[in-house]
Amino acid sequence: MVLWTRLAPKPVEGGGMPDAAVAVEWRVAEDEGMKRVVKKGTSMAVPALAHSVHVEVAGLRPDRWYWYQFRAGGEVSPVGRTRTAPAAGSMPERLRYAFASCQHWESGYFTAYEHMAAENPDLVVHLGDYIYEGSPKPGNPRLHNSQEIVTLSDYRNRHALYKTDKALQNMHAWAPWIVTWDDHEVDNNYAGDIAEDKQTRQQLLERRASAYQAYYEHMPLRAGATPKGSGMLLYRNLSWGGLANFTVLDTRQYRTDQPCGDGRKAPCKEVFDPAATLLGAEQHAWMERQLGSSRAVWNILAQQVLMAKLDFQRGDGELLSMDQWSGYEACRNRVLQFLDQRKIANPVVITGDIHSNWACDLKLDWRDGKAPAVGVELVGTSITSGGDGAEAMKGIDDVYAENPHLKWHSARRGYVSCVVTPKQTRADYRTLPYVAKPGAPVQTPRSFVVEAGRAGLQNA
Ligand SMILES: [Fe+2]
Repeated sequence: MVLWTRLAPKPVEGGGMPDAAVAVEWRVAEDEGMKRVVKKGTSMAVPALAHSVHVEVAGLRPDRWYWYQFRAGGEVSPVGRTRTAPAAGSMPERLRYAFASCQHWESGYFTAYEHMAAENPDLVVHLGDYIYEGSPKPGNPRLHNSQEIVTLSDYRNRHALYKTDKALQNMHAWAPWIVTWDDHEVDNNYAGDIAEDKQTRQQLLERRASAYQAYYEHMPLRAGATPKGSGMLLYRNLSWGGLANFTVLDTRQYRTDQPCGDGRKAPCKEVFDPAATLLGAEQHAWMERQLGSSRAVWNILAQQVLMAKLDFQRGDGELLSMDQWSGYEACRNRVLQFLDQRKIANPVVITGDIHSNWACDLKLDWRDGKAPAVGVELVGTSITSGGDGAEAMKGIDDVYAENPHLKWHSARRGYVSCVVTPKQTRADYRTLPYVAKPGAPVQTPRSFVVEAGRAGLQNA
């Protein structure tokens, strides 16, 4: 685990700390009253990292909850709760995790996290768009604190604004998180070193360096993720004993530019270019090594953009989203063929990005409804992005008709709760009827199960 905090008495105004290092004491206890302290130490909060601290605590016992607290400058933090993973080689009976993405501050309230906390997950996985970079739009339920963010201090103040949300704070203080980013942590739909806006590569790389730096400062990440120049190593592997293996991907930093422009397009020939990649060669090879050597019952790929092919045009011709795996056909085929040929155990791809729920079987042949699945993809909706939402996107009947591997869709806000056992994964799609006001109830419009050893979604 990584214990995270940041000293920032004026969080959205640069932090308000003196230009000096400050000692932060930390303690880890076996009880929430912080009586049975088992580890303690001091970390330096330094100005170069916006007085954030990332404490990697070693030597704790596996598979149990711990409580922690910080003390600095006469102030004491609230008590946080986190837990260790089960030991390598053990076979846990169960893992409960929830995954989320896309929490646009201005679109509404993070009520979804209140419901998530009530479920007591062992682990939260955030799949990106933790912040958004845009300017305030008057009339929205909540407003951003500056114009579009570009500099390091802009990104720091934006992260700090999001971190003032009580529901988000409480969820961080209630369970460990695995985080990865998508595009809005930097700039909408950027690809590697290519900006959405009219920025040069050099400008985008400078902006990316600031954005990555602020992301590292505000997330519970290990020292190995410390940014270097305009790069930051975010792809990594985490395991939950022998039950589940999380392969966390970064489909933004190393990708080639979206082919045939952005948005939904008929595929141009660049879609089939073998050099087009979402992962980059190094990460792709790393992922294959991770999956190939995994002995876990479940192999969970935590990543950003829709992997299943979804054709949005009924009948002849295709309309595909170029920012997703559908814009990178050769790269996707290599992944799916690898899962199939190497018989990777029970692949479950979890995805964010598109502010709507989807549940798909992953196929080598998308046209044949009877073709066997090589894995499943659970796409979780946004926490808030897009506002209150709707039952479904317009024209969903055509999308179902055209894509036999699509099992379900909803355009409400929310998150997904999963319970993983050696026999099955159960996924409950949780949705909220509104986010523009606080206090929404939670609903479960659809649940699926996947049986170990049998690829494909089944109704729960
Ligand atoms: Fe988003």
